[in-house]
Amino acid sequence: MAHHDLAIIGGDGIGPEVTEQTLRVLDLAEQRFGFTTTRTEYPLGAEHYRATGELLTDELAERIRQHDAIVFGAVGHPDLPSGVLERGIILALRREMRQAVNLRPVRLYPGVTSPIAGLRPEDCDLVVVRENTEGAYASAGSAVHRGTPAHTAVQDATTTWFATERAVEYAFALAAQRRRKVSLCHKTNVLVEAGRLWLDVMEAVSARYPDVEWDYVHVDALCMHLPTDPSRFDVVVTDNLFGDIVTDLGAVVQGGLGMAASGNLTLDGSAPSMFEPVHGSAPDIAGKGVANPVGAVLSLALCLAHLGEGEAATAVERAAVHVIGQLPALANPAMGKSTAQVGDAVLEALESGAGADLPEGLMRQMAALRA
Ligand code: IPM
Ligand code: MN
Repeated sequence: MAHHDLAIIGGDGIGPEVTEQTLRVLDLAEQRFGFTTTRTEYPLGAEHYRATGELLTDELAERIRQHDAIVFGAVGHPDLPSGVLERGIILALRREMRQAVNLRPVRLYPGVTSPIAGLRPEDCDLVVVRENTEGAYASAGSAVHRGTPAHTAVQDATTTWFATERAVEYAFALAAQRRRKVSLCHKTNVLVEAGRLWLDVMEAVSARYPDVEWDYVHVDALCMHLPTDPSRFDVVVTDNLFGDIVTDLGAVVQGGLGMAASGNLTLDGSAPSMFEPVHGSAPDIAGKGVANPVGAVLSLALCLAHLGEGEAATAVERAAVHVIGQLPALANPAMGKSTAQVGDAVLEALESGAGADLPEGLMRQMAALRA
């Protein structure tokens, strides 16, 4: 029987609430699909930081590195200076675990109402492959004369062939199993040097995938096309910062941040990949038990696919989508159901085998790429 050793980081705000429901779904998936997990909880987040001053220490990173995958909720707290936990935990994990790609499906599920009137599920099924380790996120920069009118800041963005190529390679390999189209999203007309590097990498990698076509789209133009005609995209590959921004737009198009899932993938297998809903800790609704756990549950489906549990992944995805399809109001936090009730409904669907009729799609594609 397959066994998977998981690190669990619930984090702050609604993070632990949605993670609790996710782990209930995992319990049932194990029984139904015949695999087992061990789970080690790591208390990273605001409370732990306040009590100990610790973010992701070397020692914690070393322990987390031993696991097969990380199930992550959310971190962030309104009483702490913005960015401390985000940089010290999320970005540190992505970097330390060499999570080269942030995979963010943008998919309108059947039964979910998009704010884009008339958008049909069959016209909104794309995946953003976000380079996950560098660009503006490498945090290189300097400042002088702080506190004076001469305050000057330089914020660098780094782009290496190595990291760009591994993201682009993943995008092409994924597209080869889908509708065989990769769109590079950048701003080459202004960011000339980084843009040149991305385009050169696209040329080089595309030569290895003669059956996959590719095109280029400026990030501002993509922000216009994504809501009006998402069907023009299959796999979008993009730099870290553009990927951050366009996937929030994508989440809105697919019916809200509560629905959006992501996987931070360590492509060389040297450390665990990490699966997290795209939403944050949502302090405004924390503790009320009303957060939508579907983004977290769909992230678990990505995790299962990545661990090679393709059948369980597909069943969990179908069960979760079945539930969202029945509760169209889920897109906002006032969904009329509690977090636990939505968890119950997903469990019920998984138990009875009731599932949305979905093309198998991404779950199978991810499992195949891992092999
Ligand atoms: C995300 C988040 C993070 C990011 C923050 C919390 C650092 O917005 O995962 O999209 O910018 O990547
Ligand atoms: Mn973001």
